[in-house]
Amino acid sequence: MRNIPSSLPWKTAWITGAGRGIGESVAKLLCHYGLTVYASARNSSELNNLKNSCCNELGLIVPIPMDITDPRQIDDMMLSWDQGHGVPDLVILNAGTHDPFPAHEFSAERCSKLLRTNLQGTINCIDPVLKRFIKRNSGQLAVMASVAGYRGLPTAAAYGASKAALINLCEALRLDLKGTDIKLQVINPGFVRTPLTDKNDFKMPALMEPEEAAVEILNGLLGRRFEICFPKRFVYLLKFLRLLPYSWYFGLLEKSVKVEPETEAVDKHG
Ligand SMILES: NC(=O)c1ccc[n+]([C@@H]2O[C@H](COP(=O)([O-])OP(=O)(O)OC[C@H]3O[C@@H](n4cnc5c(N)ncnc54)[C@H](OP(=O)(O)O)[C@@H]3O)[C@@H](O)[C@H]2O)c1
Repeated sequence: MRNIPSSLPWKTAWITGAGRGIGESVAKLLCHYGLTVYASARNSSELNNLKNSCCNELGLIVPIPMDITDPRQIDDMMLSWDQGHGVPDLVILNAGTHDPFPAHEFSAERCSKLLRTNLQGTINCIDPVLKRFIKRNSGQLAVMASVAGYRGLPTAAAYGASKAALINLCEALRLDLKGTDIKLQVINPGFVRTPLTDKNDFKMPALMEPEEAAVEILNGLLGRRFEICFPKRFVYLLKFLRLLPYSWYFGLLEKSVKVEPETEAVDKHG
């Protein structure tokens, strides 16, 4: 892991989903290094707690309560930046949610609710940011996906689809942005202990603390790689699984992950 320099190449950052979990830890770390961090999420009291917890740091937290599924709220924020110092140098689109459900509970409504936040919400933010970055030919954008986007995982049909779509979207944009001074990266973490993963009722391999994840993310943002992924050993294992033919992949997963048989589950749930 590289040493973080004492001064960072950005003055301002916007982080979505900064109220808790990974986003909160990244916001705190950037604030510690002197950045003005525009921290957004829907819950304003979590954002105010973040601001108060950083009052002795070098930088500043500016809470911006907003919902990424509402483009009008994003437009209002862009307008205020346009009238001031412009969109921040660094944008981390981290906000997301998870709603695990097995095949026998599959529902279009739950899928579209999750996709509305993780995929459409992130796209709602990419649109105005990218337009402004392209206009001034500068800026750094990082999009939070997940290793769950590499291949299908049990109970993660909707979540995995949202993250796979984000990875693919970023790959395409990265190619389109060649020759510009805009830096685009995708972040693919393994398991990080946050309120989102606290819901999981299984043992999470290679579980990391959000503060450790924030350091990995900052290191990755400073580096040249398109993909910021961690923890390394777990990620390498998943990248290897990605190369396997379906028969091997399904065989391995079915052996190592306890999947509730549908009939039993249906009996249990009535
Ligand atoms: N934790 C992990 O193991 C892990 C692994 C891989 C990837 N990730 C990804 O990392 C990101 C952060 O995850 P986390 O574990 O830190 O989750 P978390 O603790 O649940 O935090 C999610 C943050 O996103 C915000 N958010 C959710 N919906 C929003 C919306 N519609 N508009 C604005 N903000 C919204 C939440 O605030 P409000 O509810 O107040 O809006 C909260 O601040 C997610 O994209 C997740 O998929 C997490």
